Amino acid sequence: MPNTKASLLQDLKHTYDGLKPNPIRVFDAEASSTPGVVKLTLGEPDFNVPQHIKRAAIDSINNDESHYGPSNGWPKLRQAATGFLKDRYNLDYNPDSELVVTVGATEALHSCLDAVLNPGDKVLMPSPTFSLYDQLIRINGGIPVYINTEATGFVLTPDQLKAAIAEEGPRVKAILLNFPSNPTGVTYNKEQVAAIAAVVADTDIVVISDEIYSELTYGSKHASFAAALPEQTLLINGVSKSHAMTGWRIGFIAGPADLMKRVALAHAFNVTVASNPAMAGATEALATEAGREDSEAMKAEYIKRRDYVVAEMTKMGFAIPEPNGAFYVFAKIPTGCIQDDTEFCYDLLRKNKLAVIAGSGFGPGGEAHVRISYAASMATLQEAMKRLGAYVAANKH
Ligand SMILES: Cc1ncc(COP(=O)(O)O)c(C=O)c1O
Repeated sequence: MPNTKASLLQDLKHTYDGLKPNPIRVFDAEASSTPGVVKLTLGEPDFNVPQHIKRAAIDSINNDESHYGPSNGWPKLRQAATGFLKDRYNLDYNPDSELVVTVGATEALHSCLDAVLNPGDKVLMPSPTFSLYDQLIRINGGIPVYINTEATGFVLTPDQLKAAIAEEGPRVKAILLNFPSNPTGVTYNKEQVAAIAAVVADTDIVVISDEIYSELTYGSKHASFAAALPEQTLLINGVSKSHAMTGWRIGFIAGPADLMKRVALAHAFNVTVASNPAMAGATEALATEAGREDSEAMKAEYIKRRDYVVAEMTKMGFAIPEPNGAFYVFAKIPTGCIQDDTEFCYDLLRKNKLAVIAGSGFGPGGEAHVRISYAASMATLQEAMKRLGAYVAANKH
């Protein structure tokens, strides 16, 4: 195999120079090489894709749907997605001009940032937040700016946002929100959304609202940011989490037509179009009653797991803000244990063969916390809690 010419590497695209692979995946790979490890690391539903969705994708293959679809996605899927947004969150979007089907929420994020940012523009993010955002903002020429929300229960307040906008000045082009949140599991209620929207409405800032976990909201109904401020919002959703379809790679973006024209261009230049069998499966997931029921059944299971994990970890001395969505618990390490979260995670892995994610990788406010994904079977969670309890009992000073 040839080596790359060394001098050629010196002047390639500089935005990639300091970028590293996702630390969650790096730690997960390391943990995987520990024999007998129990992992609560990745944000992946552990359910299988429901049978009727698989059948729709298989039919698409058997029907020779093997040519390029329209760049924005097949009309049937766009209608299914806008219908889903209407039924579930009372949002009104035109499937022909206001919705684009993407290759997962990741491509949706990328295409939104690509369409919106000029080099040097700033993107505000309540922190801790999904670690991929930082890199996606940077590769699209932007500058990530974190707003630490640890003191306010991991919810961005209007005062924090106003202060950040005033401090960061006119280069603030976008705000990247995510709720229910990865990594905290915290979500925003309608009043909290309205309060943030009122601040943004006085500006020309674009809100990119990643609501990929909206169907996994426990307690009160999910309140979409797009309902509060449709004219400034690019809404991201998809079937990865709601239907355990992470590997199928289908997401979508909805927003006002003029903005979506640009986003659609970015999407078309990035990926052309999503794949036909995956789009057929996603149509089945979003358009049918059975598809809605799938999400409900998974959600009921997640609630049981969440309640179990929160109760067990609280007994051990972890402090946990109420997780009302997604499938994560973001827990403050008990006093008396190692407070450096990375060291804590490696020590726990070494001594008790349990892998959880260090909080500081999610940005300011994550220090001395760990993220636990409860997208795992009850038996796995029980074993994990046994190991965690034993570790804390033996290592708390
Ligand atoms: C907040 C958030 N946004 C986006 C994604 C990526 O979603 P997708 O698999 O649809 O690209 C994830 C996956 O973990 C996530 O947690």
